[in-house]
Amino acid sequence: MTTTTATTATTATTATTATTGTTATTGTTATTGTTATTGTARCRACAGPLTEFLDLGAQPNSDAFPRPGETEGEFFFRLAVGLCGECTMVQLMEEVPRERMFHEDYPYHSSGSTVMRGHFEDTARQLLAGPAAGPDAFVVELGCNDGVMLATVAAAGVRHLGVDPSAGVADRAREKGVRVRTAFFEESTAREIAAAEGRADVVYAANTLCHIPYLESVFRGLDALLKPTGVFVFEDPYLGEIVERTSFDQIYDEHYWFFTARSVRNLARRYGFELVDVVRLPVHGGEVRYTLARQGAQAPSAAVAALLAEEEAAALAEPATLERFAAGVRRTREELTELLGRLRAEGRRVVAYGATAKSATVANYCGIGPELIEFVCDTTPAKQGRLTPGSHIPVRPAEAFAAPYPDYALLFAWNHAEEITAKEQEFRAAGGRWILYTPEVRVL
Ligand code: SAH
Ligand code: TYD
Ligand code: ZN
Repeated sequence: MTTTTATTATTATTATTATTGTTATTGTTATTGTTATTGTARCRACAGPLTEFLDLGAQPNSDAFPRPGETEGEFFFRLAVGLCGECTMVQLMEEVPRERMFHEDYPYHSSGSTVMRGHFEDTARQLLAGPAAGPDAFVVELGCNDGVMLATVAAAGVRHLGVDPSAGVADRAREKGVRVRTAFFEESTAREIAAAEGRADVVYAANTLCHIPYLESVFRGLDALLKPTGVFVFEDPYLGEIVERTSFDQIYDEHYWFFTARSVRNLARRYGFELVDVVRLPVHGGEVRYTLARQGAQAPSAAVAALLAEEEAAALAEPATLERFAAGVRRTREELTELLGRLRAEGRRVVAYGATAKSATVANYCGIGPELIEFVCDTTPAKQGRLTPGSHIPVRPAEAFAAPYPDYALLFAWNHAEEITAKEQEFRAAGGRWILYTPEVRVL
């Protein structure tokens, strides 16, 4: 039922029907108010006109892995993306209530990747040598998760506080000596922290600001929490890379915003901040780290002007560019389903690697279920023995991959390709082939 719905839900009308139907059975509603069908969609950042350019159909919570036999009443919402004609912010058309996504059992553990552990250790050292270099510096991290970044700050003996609403991962962080407040960061949280612990030299957030629809509250909070010289440093998947690689699987319930230097600069200025630096990062398929300072506190670096010019040249904020991206997404779906269908007809064994949140979008949009993929292997204990959201493919431990190796492995965790292909060399040696779908569908 799920796969059929998702496959056909490619127009605003059918998808809306699907969402409404699901709402009726689950009795829960994604905060809508803005759909293409009503013609009144407004930007969540600036209230400008929002134009939808891609509809990925009915989608589940990307990190909600049901137990076998417990798929009844699964939550679905309409996953679609639009562009603001005013501030150029790209964003979801519907918002999923935050408590549905971030809670005690949130299964994503940041420390699951060796490469990411290294990345966040480096990040911590850069913060400690930069904005947090002064005496009695105070570092706050939004979405600290299992403490992958703050553990290094804590080990250096620097005053810090993580803020994360997901109690399970917050406990993992505490085990590493990290101080965490289990809460959603918003204006009230920020004021409480500032009152109790003083103002921060740096507020850092990785793969978290893009998860937060209520930016006005966040920025009022940053204003209250940061010292006059304090900076807000955050990194998130970069729209420029998503468009270039057709990596549409970066679009899912948790990823509400898709930033560019231009949209971030517009956003910052609404709240008295300025975009003063940008750094491109190779992690998670291509991200940008943005630094915001209070207006007038720091001159923007040359990198800001360079990235803005690059975005202008790539026509990143043009509807035609995003329409072309959407056409590429539809092509990927055709090619991937054709390939998997052919492999099944040939009797090949195909499994998938990495039960990522991203893969929920691919599986549900393309209609890929257990009839095409035998299982997904994943190192996360909380996902093992469960089913993938919406598409209901069994999730098995990493060891299942080699017992015995399949003919093909669909690399859902493509953003960790280097790390994974390096440790799975025996799979290739045994004649196994990787299937990738970004930047295009291909077999390696
Ligand atoms: N920074 C980590 C975790 C990213 S996952 C990394 O880059 O790997 C996103 C995290 O943000 C989750 O742990 C989630 O619980 C948290 N989160 C979601 N909304 C938040 C909010 N309003 N304030 C703080 N953390 C939030
Ligand atoms: P990731 O791509 O980091 O993020 P998201 O869920 O936000 O899309 O998720 C990586 C997933 O892949 C996570 O569930 C752990 C799993 N994984 C493995 O199973 N093996 C590995 O070697 C790596 C790096 C990840
Ligand atoms: Zn806008």
